[in-house]
Amino acid sequence: SANAMWGGRFSAGPDAIMEAINASIGYDKRLAPQDITGSRAHAAMLAAVGILTKDDAAAIDSGLAQVLAEIEAGEFAFSTALEDIHMNVEARLRDLIGPAAGRLHTARSRNDQVAVDFRMWVRDQCDTAIAGLEALMRAFLTQAEAGADWVMPGFTHLQTAQPVTWGHHMLAYVEMFARDRSRFIDARARMNECPLGAAALAGTSFPIDRHMTAQALGFDRPTANSLDSVSDRDFALEYLSAASICAMHLSRFAEELVIWSSAQFRFVRMSDRFSTGSSIMPQKRNPDAAELLRAKLGRILGATVALFTIMKGLPLTYSKDMQEDKEQVFDAADNLALGLAAMEGMVSDLTANRAALEAAAASGFSTATDLADWLVRELNLPFREAHHVTGSLVKLAEDKGCDLPDLSLTEMQKVHGEITDAVYSVLGVYNSVASRTSYGGTAPDNVRAQIARWKEVLV
Ligand code: ARG
Repeated sequence: SANAMWGGRFSAGPDAIMEAINASIGYDKRLAPQDITGSRAHAAMLAAVGILTKDDAAAIDSGLAQVLAEIEAGEFAFSTALEDIHMNVEARLRDLIGPAAGRLHTARSRNDQVAVDFRMWVRDQCDTAIAGLEALMRAFLTQAEAGADWVMPGFTHLQTAQPVTWGHHMLAYVEMFARDRSRFIDARARMNECPLGAAALAGTSFPIDRHMTAQALGFDRPTANSLDSVSDRDFALEYLSAASICAMHLSRFAEELVIWSSAQFRFVRMSDRFSTGSSIMPQKRNPDAAELLRAKLGRILGATVALFTIMKGLPLTYSKDMQEDKEQVFDAADNLALGLAAMEGMVSDLTANRAALEAAAASGFSTATDLADWLVRELNLPFREAHHVTGSLVKLAEDKGCDLPDLSLTEMQKVHGEITDAVYSVLGVYNSVASRTSYGGTAPDNVRAQIARWKEVLV
């Protein structure tokens, strides 16, 4: 039979395949709370401006409240034939309150309806991400505080570069996640305009009050252009872009955890709660959660690319292609939330192996730069010459199979006669990190100052 919503124009119902490709109810039922909140605000506004009678508005409002209760209780029978959440809700409202339900859609279209529902949903996800990031930043801060002055190798090219502090490394991630947080805050502020009332695309001839609905739904203002209102998905793309950058950061620390927890590094031990064993190799403690986090970026970035690709060729205004926005964003948001929570758990549970970090910090000629700097400072050598002298000392140590502090003064003086005993003070890793006091450097005092600053931000 013809469709109940637009059947007047049609004599036959849709093919089963048409119904299958067209229906979004399988996933957009997640928008039910937003859809019903939006409809209640719309009905209240219609009554306030005299488009709906008070009685009809009251019936619609209590009917919608009941529909939401049924959905939340899992008692709602979603229908594929009714295509999407908007029509499922409206059809049920008609069962409950009769023909007055048909007045709800006055001065509205599914185009502005889905736009406002989805904006509210994405807006909530920004808040979820912000809260998840703050929890994660706190976990990194706790790690930083515990080991503000512990030493570890800093790497470039994954080759030992210079000693750094554990606290400094942890705070590097606090910086990244703080930028992610500010991206979600920015995106949220930018998306917080209400498209409801743009109707199908051109606005409406009814005397609606868009400021009233915008305010009721927590938006800063109504959107200013009806065409843009129903065709814009920037808010979802911006959310996905911020999510992708955040997931990339999660993936980078996940990669470090995989490396660090290996038997070859032994920098950290992951807790039992976030490790898995092997069904055949009894010794195994696999960092599965970290590996999965590394993989999640692929999925979240994939969703981002998918939505860009969906949107890029669409003429204004609404095209049905846009219905495919939701699965991408839902999947990305679910995985981001899970990823943030999993990383928070892993970081909170993480045990750093201070002795292994220290031993690694001291190996690999990590204080060679300190030695070169000492030659510049104390012997007034040009840096390039100091670099050359130090390179010779490193080669000597390497040939002997020892580290720089293990060379005797006599051996060093054979390479450069003016080197004195005082050089040994800069070859120790603790002296090395303590000397890095330039703003933003790895010195423990800097780390403690930054921890104090972040604690104020995160109160
Ligand atoms: N289910 C649709 C979507 O998600 C709702 C909007 C439908 N609008 C339309 N003109 N067919 O995009």
